[in-house]
Amino acid sequence: MTEKVVLAYSGGLDTTVAVRWLKDNKGLDVVAVGVDVGQAGDLEAIRERAMKSGAIDAVMVDAVDEFASDFVVPSLHANALYQQKYPLVSALSRPLISKHLAEAAAQHGAAYVAHGCTGKGNDQVRFEVSLAAIAPELTVLAPIREWGMTREDAISYGMEAGLPIPVGPAAPYSIDENLWGRTIECGILEDPMVEPPADIWERTADPFDAPDEPVYLEIGFERGVPVSLDGEAIGLPALIRAVEKVAGAFGYGRVDMIEDRVVGIKSREIYEVPGALALITAHADLEELTLDREVLRLKRVLEQRYAQLIYEGLWYSPLREAMDAFMTETAKHVIGTVRLRFEPGNARVVGRESSGSLYDYSVATYDKEDSFDHSAAEGFVKLWGLPLKIWARTKQKLNP
Ligand code: ARG
Repeated sequence: MTEKVVLAYSGGLDTTVAVRWLKDNKGLDVVAVGVDVGQAGDLEAIRERAMKSGAIDAVMVDAVDEFASDFVVPSLHANALYQQKYPLVSALSRPLISKHLAEAAAQHGAAYVAHGCTGKGNDQVRFEVSLAAIAPELTVLAPIREWGMTREDAISYGMEAGLPIPVGPAAPYSIDENLWGRTIECGILEDPMVEPPADIWERTADPFDAPDEPVYLEIGFERGVPVSLDGEAIGLPALIRAVEKVAGAFGYGRVDMIEDRVVGIKSREIYEVPGALALITAHADLEELTLDREVLRLKRVLEQRYAQLIYEGLWYSPLREAMDAFMTETAKHVIGTVRLRFEPGNARVVGRESSGSLYDYSVATYDKEDSFDHSAAEGFVKLWGLPLKIWARTKQKLNP
């Protein structure tokens, strides 16, 4: 019996050619698996293309809710931004796609899984490390990394094999997208000095085309999870999309950065992440209102480590689980509402409230209701500055 391989299938040129290539070069029957993590596109058409390319079976998995609850939520709890800028769009979807690949492999009795990544990117790392952690018995194949074909080679290979390859001019960019945002790479963007052309943007308007009047959104949180919009309960995927729509219309959420890839390359990356950035901004603000000072300080340090870990493909690791336990514990207190004001190119927090607010008006106010013990400040400040006073006196003695 012919052995099987489960291929992560996107419907693009490379993975379409890979269906045939795996048969021709590895003698494997291909089961194509597409995972819906909230990207645009007609999944049924993608499924049909996989079948027409010679797959013995093709399945599309609807994983949008799972992506939101199991990957976006932890990452929002951690306010995760790689290099303090990139909300991990692709880095979050790869471990979930890997999980569905492993499940499909078990169902179909496949000993192999395959992905369509090149040898230069982070995604190969994330797929292979995730698969190693979830299903170490599987052998992972990376046809595109292995075959060494140029784009033209791949097209003629596909044409000769009569595959339904997407025709038309070469796509000028490499795009990945999901519920949490959109990534754009390659082409002229590889010159870090070239401004991103207007035609790359899909989820954000130019800030100069933003509405003339500001728009306000009130985001309600329970245990660090956004659960309502302007007082109306709403499921997470719909909430993210709704916030993204408003934020995007104001031209907020465009990121242009030089990124340190896992494989050692610096690369120029463009992201459209209006919903993710607006929600992280709101969430982090509510934490400032509801979390104890010491917890908050340590959390801000761990958040950066968390983002690195996810970026580097270590989702299924004991460190991520341990850090998630910390994040989940702190999230218990993150309850309340944040008011965001959208203006051209920006989203600002202009108000926040919480039943668990640690803001105590009676100690914070400068008005007559003030109950803060001013006399206690005198001794406190004296002792707080004592080490530095001793330090300064000692130095004066040494170098008079
Ligand atoms: N540089 C980003 C990351 O590593 C984006 C990757 C996009 N992936 C893609 N296959 N186009 O997460």
